[in-house]
Amino acid sequence: MIKNKAGLKADLGARMVVLTAIGSVLLLAVQTAAAQPPAAAPASGGVYTTAQAERGNALYQANCAVCHGGALQGEEENPPLSGKHFNTSWGGKPVADLYNFISSQMPLGQPGALGSQGNADVIAYILAVNRFPAGAKELPPDTNVLGTIAVDKR
Ligand code: HEC
Repeated sequence: MIKNKAGLKADLGARMVVLTAIGSVLLLAVQTAAAQPPAAAPASGGVYTTAQAERGNALYQANCAVCHGGALQGEEENPPLSGKHFNTSWGGKPVADLYNFISSQMPLGQPGALGSQGNADVIAYILAVNRFPAGAKELPPDTNVLGTIAVDKR
């Protein structure tokens, strides 16, 4: 197709419009990505400390073991808090879900008895028993933070 000068100019103009449109779409995509909450960090990345899990162990043995067993193995109608059962229930979910469940339901008949710090400590212990490694920072009793940590699906 033979084009005169005016035709070429119009062609260039059209290309500029297309490029600008692509630019706007890309910019929008970048802005949308920035507005998203941060991607979940894995609970296997060291999200509690050894000292916290030890505190959680003491709380667990005093308040939870009577039903869930000394080794989190479960007993009769009380489900295990370890192994396959634990991962089927909580794998892929934010630690905040586990925290909210324990805060509102456990210990059965006395929910909230451990207080928010105690609940975070007991979760640290449950993670330790489920072979999630300890790290440098404690698991905070803060659902905003716990919402950004996900229990690894195994
Ligand atoms: C009096 C017995 C009893 C005590 C004490 C108790 N639990 Fe439970 N727990 C249960 C029963 C029964 C269920 C299953 C019913 C349900 O899911 O609501 C359960 C369910 C759970 C679950 C969900 C398990 C799943 O299916 O994945 C968690 C987590 C849990 N308990 C944590 C705790 C913790 C932590 C404590 C101590 C702070 C505790 N429980 C104390 C009886 C108990």
